[in-house]
Amino acid sequence: MNRIARPLPSASRRVDEITGSRRLRRMRKADWSRRLVQETRLTVDDLIWPVFVVEGENRHEEVAAMPGVTRLSVDLLAREAERAAKLGIPAIATFPKVELALKDQTGSEILNPDNLINRATRAIKEAVPEIGVITDGALDPFTSHGHDGILREGIIVNDETVAQVAQAAVLQAAAGADIIAPSDMMDGRIGAIRDALDAAGFQDVAIMSYATKFASAFYGPYREAIGTQGLLKGDKKTYYLDHANTDEAMREIEQDLAEGADMVMVKPGLPYLDIIRRAKDEFAMPTFAYQVSGEYAMIEAAAKNGWLDGEKAMLESLAAFKRAGCDGVLTYFAPRVAALLRG
Ligand code: PBG
Repeated sequence: MNRIARPLPSASRRVDEITGSRRLRRMRKADWSRRLVQETRLTVDDLIWPVFVVEGENRHEEVAAMPGVTRLSVDLLAREAERAAKLGIPAIATFPKVELALKDQTGSEILNPDNLINRATRAIKEAVPEIGVITDGALDPFTSHGHDGILREGIIVNDETVAQVAQAAVLQAAAGADIIAPSDMMDGRIGAIRDALDAAGFQDVAIMSYATKFASAFYGPYREAIGTQGLLKGDKKTYYLDHANTDEAMREIEQDLAEGADMVMVKPGLPYLDIIRRAKDEFAMPTFAYQVSGEYAMIEAAAKNGWLDGEKAMLESLAAFKRAGCDGVLTYFAPRVAALLRG
């Protein structure tokens, strides 16, 4: 190809001849006009704050792989929930670090009405009834093998897991949870949870489905946070989605909505913006993303090294979710962003 021989296209033309009278930079010229034409906006109302709970009193432990994130004992968590409510954060999602001695093959501790997660819900609701509490219906914090289901002869058994998760959901609702968010990707869990909640009189407790949860490397730091890191053998590919698939992700959403999900979630977030956009376009349902631990860690690590402006990267990453069609985002940045947005 002879580049030299081609005439330079615009060498002899004025810019107006090329663009007509159209100048896309016009609206970008000043802060006021940029604000005026901004299409999407992140607000405090978009935030859900995932938090880690640990046994004990007055305890807060740093999570090494998530700088700035701590595990809190129930008493401290209740205080943080008050702070979150004051900042205007609509909801909190709790994840427990369960004592090793309480873990077993079936995750039976999830059926203890006074387990860590249910005690945390009660304490938060007592301290701040006005904040939404979202609990995870999955077994992984409670199993000795770190899987989200009951493991029998090397297989995660679906239906037995679903029955247990549905029972756990009722206990979580009884403790005061407003939204049950099962993250385990078992088939039929949404319908089973809906039936169980309704039968127990919890018609008003909502279900946020982790409808498209992908088998992902980005969950690494979370597993340190809840202490399942060393326990998990193998991977979760027999129940989480293949990260190459988008049609299958839509089938998962369709199924969960048919079973009664009120809201759907895409997880992880930033590497899956295409899934979010497609989900919103196809189903027009309340759609959420989980900006997971690894996404948080990447931004924080780079910021700590001075390689990028952490605050700007945080805001830009969250804006991306709104642009992709999210109604809200689960993010470990929630209190920091909320404080920032409120000035
Ligand atoms: C498992 C669960 C995971 C996360 C929350 N619940 C994934 C996993 O450990 O496989 C990940 C959250 C995060 O990475 O921030 N049910």
